Amino acid sequence: MKILEVKNLVKTYGSLRAVDKVSFDIEKGEIFGLLGPNGAGKTTLISSIITLEKFQEGDIFVCGKSVQRNASLIKSFIGFMPQDIIVHGYFTVKEIVKFYSGFCGVWPNLDRIDYLLKKFDLWDKKDKKVRYLSGGMKRRLLIVKALVHSPKLLLLDEPTAGVDIQLRNSIWEFIKDIKKECSILFTTHYLEEAENLCDRVAFINKGKIQQMGPTLDLISQLTTRRVLIKYTKNIEIKNQYYKGKSKDNYESFSLPYSFTVGNLLKELNLKQEYIEDLKVKEGSLEDIFKSVVNVKKK
Ligand SMILES: Nc1ncnc2c1ncn2[C@@H]1O[C@H](COP(=O)(O)OP(=O)(O)OP(=O)(O)O)[C@@H](O)[C@H]1O
Ligand SMILES: [Mg+2]
Repeated sequence: MKILEVKNLVKTYGSLRAVDKVSFDIEKGEIFGLLGPNGAGKTTLISSIITLEKFQEGDIFVCGKSVQRNASLIKSFIGFMPQDIIVHGYFTVKEIVKFYSGFCGVWPNLDRIDYLLKKFDLWDKKDKKVRYLSGGMKRRLLIVKALVHSPKLLLLDEPTAGVDIQLRNSIWEFIKDIKKECSILFTTHYLEEAENLCDRVAFINKGKIQQMGPTLDLISQLTTRRVLIKYTKNIEIKNQYYKGKSKDNYESFSLPYSFTVGNLLKELNLKQEYIEDLKVKEGSLEDIFKSVVNVKKK
């Protein structure tokens, strides 16, 4: 079942096409990463899904309902954590969460509120005014708000920006955990994080999707595996995948994923005593990110 369908979406600001004919779907229980440089259009896309921005062309469906025609129903389907921290200074943590349930069209479920405040380490702060929380605590509160009405789709816009390692780890654990309850669309500039968490990713640049697919498939299709071998003696290397010597005297090979390290060693026909050291560096989303951004700069 498709939880989110974005179809040929166009969002313009004056002459700028911030989102330019973007289409993608998210299935039930899927974690989908939206990746791209600053100004790529990620937040604009998320704001369009949550109905904060009106778009010019295309349509968006959440649980089969068009967001244009069912704005209040859509809010009850979606949990949203914005990129910017918004501080409601005069209210307490618990008051904010209760009000927010009402905003989403749901009667406050006090058991769930208590459960989430405890889960995200805000229980001790529940009666404190929000302005007295630290930056990381405010981020935790944003997550609690996003989850308070048990959404079917969770939109997290850079949930780990500027948080400490401990909170980042607990957000990762939480994202993996919550996958059983709802689908997740999240943006991040930490590509390793996307690699670990996302079932599928899309790279967006200048409003257009450049690459999209299952994370591991994209890595194996679009990147190479680097193999670095330090020889114990000088040997002339004739191999199609040979790229030259690295600064620290390793011979460098760049292999497509269809060609294994075993295949390479067989082709090189090296005696074991000629190998001092061997390192393998896997391709990554970072490699794809660089090629996506560079292609567009030409
Ligand atoms: N309200 C607005 N009015 C005019 N232009 C806007 C507005 N909001 C965003 N933009 C422009 O739209 C483009 C996309 O911005 P957006 O915030 O979606 O990028 P992003 O991918 O989320 O970037 P970041 O990684 O920095 O958060 C940018 O060029 C930005 O300047
Ligand atoms: Mg953004």
